[in-house]
Amino acid sequence: MCGIVGYIGYRQSTDVLLHGLSKLEYRGYDSAGLAVYHQGSITVRKFKGRLQTLTQDIANSPIEATVGIGHTRWATHGEPSDANSHPHANHHATIAVVHNGIIENYLELREMLMKEGYRFTSQTDSEVLAHLLDKLYEGNLVVAVRKMLKIIKGSYALAILCEKEPDKIVGVRKNSPLIVGLGESENFLASDIPAILNYTRNVYLMENDEIVICTQDNVTILDENDLEKQPDIFKVNWDAQDAEKGGYEHFMLKEIHEQPESIRKTMLSRIFEEKDYVVLDDVKITKEDLDRFQKVYIVACGTAYHAGLVGKYLIEKYARIPVECDIASEFRYRNPLVDKCTLCIVISQSGETADSLAALELAKAQSARVLAVTNVQGSSIARAAHDVIYTWAGPEIAVASTKAYTTQLLCMYALSMHFGLLTQHLSKQQYAALRDELFDLPRLVQQVIATDEGLHALAKRRKNAEDIYFIGRGLDYYVSLEGSLKLKEISYIHSEAAAAGELKHGPIALIDQGTLVIALLTQDELFNKTLSNIKEVKSRGAYVVAFCKENAEIIRKEVDELFVIPKAADDVAPVLAVICLQLLSYYFACERGCDVDKPRNLAKSVTVE
Ligand code: G6P
Repeated sequence: MCGIVGYIGYRQSTDVLLHGLSKLEYRGYDSAGLAVYHQGSITVRKFKGRLQTLTQDIANSPIEATVGIGHTRWATHGEPSDANSHPHANHHATIAVVHNGIIENYLELREMLMKEGYRFTSQTDSEVLAHLLDKLYEGNLVVAVRKMLKIIKGSYALAILCEKEPDKIVGVRKNSPLIVGLGESENFLASDIPAILNYTRNVYLMENDEIVICTQDNVTILDENDLEKQPDIFKVNWDAQDAEKGGYEHFMLKEIHEQPESIRKTMLSRIFEEKDYVVLDDVKITKEDLDRFQKVYIVACGTAYHAGLVGKYLIEKYARIPVECDIASEFRYRNPLVDKCTLCIVISQSGETADSLAALELAKAQSARVLAVTNVQGSSIARAAHDVIYTWAGPEIAVASTKAYTTQLLCMYALSMHFGLLTQHLSKQQYAALRDELFDLPRLVQQVIATDEGLHALAKRRKNAEDIYFIGRGLDYYVSLEGSLKLKEISYIHSEAAAAGELKHGPIALIDQGTLVIALLTQDELFNKTLSNIKEVKSRGAYVVAFCKENAEIIRKEVDELFVIPKAADDVAPVLAVICLQLLSYYFACERGCDVDKPRNLAKSVTVE
């Protein structure tokens, strides 16, 4: 999604803006631009394509300036083009604006402004903001911004620069993230922390409807009633290099390799080796609450939704509460049966996904208890929820989610075990056995990662595959969904996942001589059932690659290739299986020469509907 950076201070602002934008590249974008104040006027430079084009242009023709705003755009209204890139400016370029989000009433505003003689140069919704500010400006930018906020509808994070008030940049947000970085004789605005971490660790997370005015030496926050507010400064406790590649060829590979550590961290201070209970500090749900809940909804998008499916399985199994798992964009428009006897769990790595946030607000408005599982402290979803579990995976930069997914799974184990103990459907012995399995996971994950040559070799041999099918039952089916998503996201190979038992109801029609089928068999009870499905696809000519646990090698003769994952209880095996599939997708993408960390058309954080 789009990225914003704003700077005011003593440094060369184009350097700070370009650096900040490069740290937001992970969000996905198709054009980049900046506006700086230079010798009495605002200069705008913006280009379709990679940030490199903008960087080159600035290098060819540098601009001396110490204040400015920058943007990476991910097209929604209007194709990716130079004209549609941000910043957008009014006619004489005296006011420049960068915007993330969507202005819902832009058509009506555009028409009104055009009638008044304003000329538009782009197809974007965002351009109305520059002209509207021009119309409302009467010598005080903040007053004009406040007036504008009363007129525009939608979601936005904005950074604004005004030629007549070059001593400040102004920011505002509503349902789209914006943070303020507080430095020494310099201040920053950004969509996300990595953009400013090179310069400061002191961060303020803006609230909806607040306005921030950054000057070189001051940051003023005005609440929705324009009253000055003392900002609650937050100290970032992770390093900029946590968000750097650290010697790996791609962020995705680095993040796959970080999983033993991130899984360990997620368990830290929640599940204890010697104790027979779970500690979830920010979850205040009691046994009485659980007795009241008639239903749990898990709502999420993309990979987080796949983690939710595993969560559904675990909560139903350990706590015996009915759970429905829903895609957020579906849930929010289908008038779900939500009331005060509902628990709604929203899973989101970024904590900013527009559909997930809207689903959360809907559930809250209908009196449900809302629990967020997210990776980003202070994110919109974390702030809006009643209870929170942080995944503590550290920053995830690659668009394809890996460590965020496995830590979401860990949170699902912790939560379902906690609920199971509260409802007393999970005995202390069962709890202890599961806990020991979880504690062994980092070691087993390490083992899986260390033996990835076979997966690489498979990707090399089959890199020209046009279709790949994943099959599995139970938890293996949920992992198949995630494996298939990962593969298509980054390698662009067409892929589908099928519940193995469902094959004969359709997908098997697609199996032909040599079709690659990846079968997961990590669930002991379902082993023979899936084996029968393997035989079905084999007899139609499929090339079957199977993943099973140790001691299940009897199927070697039934398949074309076999990968053995370390022995683990059925319920935790998905964590190991999915890491094999992450690595396999990664190698497929590399072998096909794809842009692994920034796959085409995808964004890391989808903050528009
Ligand atoms: C985008 C990302 C996915 C992610 C999904 C949900 O599509 O590319 O990796 O799973 O959004 O994001 P969230 O931040 O809510 O987990």
